[in-house]
Amino acid sequence: MRTKVVIIGGGPSGLLLSRLLSLENIDNVVLEKQSREHVQGRIRAGVLENGTIEMLRLAGVSKRLDNEGFKHNGIELSFKNHGFRIDLKKLTDKHVTVYGQTEVTKDLYEIIEKENGNIINCAEDVLPQNVGEINSFVTFKKNGIENKIMCDFVAGCDGYHGISRKVIPENLINVFERIYPFGWLGILSETPPVKEELIYANHGNGFALASMRNNNLSRYYIQTSLDDRVEAWDDKRFWEELKRRLPIEASESIITGRSIEKSIAPLRSFVCEPMNWNNLFLVGDAAHIVPPTGAKGLNLAVSDVYYLFNGLKKYYLFNDDKDLKNYSTKALSRVWKAIRFSWWMTTTFHKFPEQTSFDQRIQDSELEYLENSIASQTVLAENYVGLPYEEF
Ligand code: FAD
Ligand code: PHB
Repeated sequence: MRTKVVIIGGGPSGLLLSRLLSLENIDNVVLEKQSREHVQGRIRAGVLENGTIEMLRLAGVSKRLDNEGFKHNGIELSFKNHGFRIDLKKLTDKHVTVYGQTEVTKDLYEIIEKENGNIINCAEDVLPQNVGEINSFVTFKKNGIENKIMCDFVAGCDGYHGISRKVIPENLINVFERIYPFGWLGILSETPPVKEELIYANHGNGFALASMRNNNLSRYYIQTSLDDRVEAWDDKRFWEELKRRLPIEASESIITGRSIEKSIAPLRSFVCEPMNWNNLFLVGDAAHIVPPTGAKGLNLAVSDVYYLFNGLKKYYLFNDDKDLKNYSTKALSRVWKAIRFSWWMTTTFHKFPEQTSFDQRIQDSELEYLENSIASQTVLAENYVGLPYEEF
């Protein structure tokens, strides 16, 4: 079997890249370790930047997004149980859209399958080989049978735990990492969201976030310690702690109910440089991780796809490899800005185990300054709605 681009990983970045390449008649195959149901069931991101929406539009999957996505013109921030609003629209003339990652992957799967794209689910032991040289190929097992696909390029879209980054010799990459000493406990509940907009709360007990998926589906998170277990948090305990941390007005009006999903995620910042090794290109979480506080992970995965897709398109359509060669440099410039913003949101809103009363006062004064300074709010708003992509 031979194709132009083998895409390892059928998460949002792999699916989007596959769809865009197919629209330009650039042959590709997606190799995904899990079943389609498993990929679509993973509850993760909820906030999409305009750049992400534009890319989904280019891929022809914006119909449901346009009908069912919620435009948010602002977010609420709170400290000491007091909230204030950041008017994203007024400050940047942009908004963000609330539309779940589950729905993005569903839409992409549907269109790719309908238009005879090539996704191989439940692919085992996927291994990119010879990527440092010509005659690259990828091997994998399906139903116990060994397969080999020859290709020009491999796109490693297989997330933080994937195989793609691991095949790059250690001496050829630099890794930058910060592991945060806490996690997020998240729940999904079939209750109306507490407010029309998201609330990010700094509290003496730790961070809390009120988010949503639709009018009757809420997503809430609270900061927990790294050794906390889901079993230790029954719904009653979760709601009590969430209410304690939200602004008073919100905790008084919140409607609680049974959780339909509950999980704990650790928080880390991670960057692998460069984002390619010859003809193996790392995309999205395979190359970088951000703590979810800035809502940037999925959006960054999409901007990587933008840079790689344009590079591959120029290579195949115009025989020009300049942009492909510059992929890592171009993508990393945007990645690092999101790494910085996500780190800032995380350090400003979370309680660190070693935090002193001095540190708490610094956080309080940072947020007080933010509440009263348009300049400071603009910095936050510009980053939150998403920095521009470099044009081609
Ligand atoms: P992934 O989604 O990880 O997809 C990788 C795929 O590769 C998976 O399907 C996996 O099964 C497959 N795979 C792995 N290994 C192999 C292998 N060896 N062979 C074949 N396939 C393999 N981001 C935002 O932008 N906004 C948010 O609001 C937001 N909130 C979040 C909340 C939480 C709690 C979490 C955990 C994350 C959040 N994110 C958010 C981050 C976002 O979900 C990720 O950044 C995004 O999923 C990255 O997409 P990806 O395609 O690069 O990787
Ligand atoms: C979510 O809805 O899951 C969500 C929203 C905003 C974030 C992180 C997660 O910053």
